[in-house]
Amino acid sequence: MCGIIARVGDSDDAVDELLTGLENLEYRGYDSAGLAVKNGGGPNVFKREGEISRLKTALDDETPSGGLGIGHTRWSTHGPPTDENAHPHTGCGDRVAVVHNGIIENHDPLREELRARGHVFDSDTDTEVIPHLVEEHLAEGATAEEAFRRTVRRLSGSYAVAMLVEDSDAVYATRRGSPLVLGVDEGEYFLASDVPAFLDFTDDVVYLDDGDVVVAEPGGHVITDLEGNVVDRTVQTVEWDPEDAGKGGYDHYMLKEIHEQPAALRQTLRGRADPATGDVTLDDFPPGTFDDVERVQFVACGTSYHAGLVGSRLLGTRGVPSQAFLASEYATSPPPVDGDTLVVGVTQSGETADTLAALRQAHAAGARTVAVTNVVGSTAARECDDALFIRAGPEIGVAATKTYSSQVVSLALFGERLVRDVTGSRSDDVERLLSGLADLPGQVQQVLDYSKARRVAKQYRDSDAYFFIGRDTVHPVAMEGALKFKEISYEHAEGFAAGELKHGPLALVTPNTPVFAVFNDRDDEKTLGNVKEVEARGAPVVAVAPEGHEEVVQHADEVLTIPDTHPDVTGVPANVQLQLLSYHAADILDRPIDKPRNLAKSVTVE
Ligand code: BG6
Repeated sequence: MCGIIARVGDSDDAVDELLTGLENLEYRGYDSAGLAVKNGGGPNVFKREGEISRLKTALDDETPSGGLGIGHTRWSTHGPPTDENAHPHTGCGDRVAVVHNGIIENHDPLREELRARGHVFDSDTDTEVIPHLVEEHLAEGATAEEAFRRTVRRLSGSYAVAMLVEDSDAVYATRRGSPLVLGVDEGEYFLASDVPAFLDFTDDVVYLDDGDVVVAEPGGHVITDLEGNVVDRTVQTVEWDPEDAGKGGYDHYMLKEIHEQPAALRQTLRGRADPATGDVTLDDFPPGTFDDVERVQFVACGTSYHAGLVGSRLLGTRGVPSQAFLASEYATSPPPVDGDTLVVGVTQSGETADTLAALRQAHAAGARTVAVTNVVGSTAARECDDALFIRAGPEIGVAATKTYSSQVVSLALFGERLVRDVTGSRSDDVERLLSGLADLPGQVQQVLDYSKARRVAKQYRDSDAYFFIGRDTVHPVAMEGALKFKEISYEHAEGFAAGELKHGPLALVTPNTPVFAVFNDRDDEKTLGNVKEVEARGAPVVAVAPEGHEEVVQHADEVLTIPDTHPDVTGVPANVQLQLLSYHAADILDRPIDKPRNLAKSVTVE
């Protein structure tokens, strides 16, 4: 998964705006970066392996001027991170420069075909076939636009592409399967993989559909389909502002986003839950929306999968048949699906290819689909029958934090809607559940204010491994805690169902493997039994538990306290403690917290 950006304007400062855009897109990939600028002649290409700072250094020596430009920050799928494999890619004659996000699945046969006709390739990437094909069509006398269309028709796979051509003062772009949005601002245009890329310059956005082709010149743009027929796309103004996409004075986006959770949760809850009456109001899902639903299947990846697990448990314990699936597994071995099945794709970005593939599969098999996502206009939101927005605001840190909390709360509200439609009655404890949700913003703020996570992280640095255990609705929290710890500290961490420990993983437990046990005020006796098992093996125990649990305190070496609340809601403040623990552990180890190695914010390739 990469980030692409293009800028079209009269003023010659395309380089500055492209670099700002690339820095705002770096969470999408950061193993190499490049840009190309045009100023009348052919595209001027600059690219370097490594972070954007290396590209900037290269540009310091000789900054190209021009109003038209394209840029790219890379997350390798084909070919290692090198200067040659960095984008933009050109053809044999440097008349064409292209940046691309996605995978050209038929690049091998195209490359062989082009090679047979004498083309020479400089890189190992799938992308490089595009400029060579365009060059061929130009040589046959096609206009730049026609050469672009003919080339795109030959591509299969997923792509968002932007192109510059020598004798044209336009940027050409298109998308299929990979995200691409158009930013509009008085005669100036941006094309990018994500809105934050150009939020510093405009908040007027056009969300493009698969197959849309954009030709943008200073002063005007046209959107057509691949055949050239003009298509109408509306300009929407996004609510986010550049500050939302900035670090706000924190050392890392991740820490800023952890501290944004009280505000994000208020937005997620706004106008949706009334604890006094037990009413849940979800604008797009009026009562009766799901009367015909018999079962619910959640599909998701990474942190979103853990939120889906919580969503599934909340439904299961309230009488609605439900299961959560890893999207990549769902796509390869799908469970039975029919018209009475509701498939819910949980995906903050709305662009994760594995989740999109699972949703498309379910749709094709006759299921109804709903996207629970953070991004209005994302592919998941547009392809599913319906969408529920979690309203967490932009999340830049690669490791998801605030979106997990907003996902869990959104799924609890969505779950209540389903319970009423599917079972015909409200949950017995709905008032208590909704008041637990309503208290969350304040309770999470308390955790942020008094957490001892940094001291605990320091105390257990240099451990051999870190284990997280929990039961019921906090079992997914144990898994999420371990995932966060792995993602950003690179330490060995694993999450287990507490009861499963004695059936194998206990063999890994030693005096040098701290165990973080999460309690939810419901199954604590049993979890305490598991704590005693690891205590007996000399392992340090850190309890994440509500106040006043005397017995827990007796058996724990450290306690990360969380406020008392409904057992189905406890997981949110508990997870905030584990987010802080992971953040501080990684910070103490001086890890690149916002851009952990080998990862990316959402992976748009299967
Ligand atoms: C990974 C991210 O690439 O994708 C994780 O690093 C994230 O943080 C996962 O949880 C799923 O992303 P999404 O956007 O589908 O929720």
